[in-house]
Amino acid sequence: MKIGRITVSDRASAGIYEDRSGPEIEAVLREVFGAETKFIVAVIPDELENISAQLREFADVVNCHLIVTTGGTGISPRDVTPEATRAVLEKELPGFGEAMRMQSLAKVKTAILSRAVAGTRRNSLIVNLPGKPTAVRECLEILAPAIREGVAHLRGEDPHGS
Ligand code: MTE
Repeated sequence: MKIGRITVSDRASAGIYEDRSGPEIEAVLREVFGAETKFIVAVIPDELENISAQLREFADVVNCHLIVTTGGTGISPRDVTPEATRAVLEKELPGFGEAMRMQSLAKVKTAILSRAVAGTRRNSLIVNLPGKPTAVRECLEILAPAIREGVAHLRGEDPHGS
């Protein structure tokens, strides 16, 4: 299992603050997919072209099973992760964003400020998450069963192992 994780943040990419959300993606997904999971890491600024290019590289060149972004899903002027993601998706999966917002709303009333999208490109499942480490964990725990199943479908595998 090869997972690309992309932290989208002007400040984290400039070293102004530590990226805590990217490592949190790794911690949660190791719990879900096991210690053998290989992570490929990128920390990049909130620039639409950079984000799309990084997603294309992780999908088309690195051939990641799963690509998870964190950050840039809100409505601040620099937030463009959903637009950059939509530009590279072949099939959109609206249920991921719907589930994240609906279930997160029960915990935090600000959850509906995230415009996170998800979908597929070639054999890769791509999922946007909000930027906060707590949001990363909350959202990944909601999505984990669908991520596992979706990755297996894209690879033509039976997730139930028969
Ligand atoms: N979703 C969950 N599960 N938990 C959270 O704390 N924070 C929200 C929202 N979604 C949050 C959440 C907030 S405050 C914002 S502004 C949006 O995600 C967008 O965050 P982003 O711009 O860092 O991606």
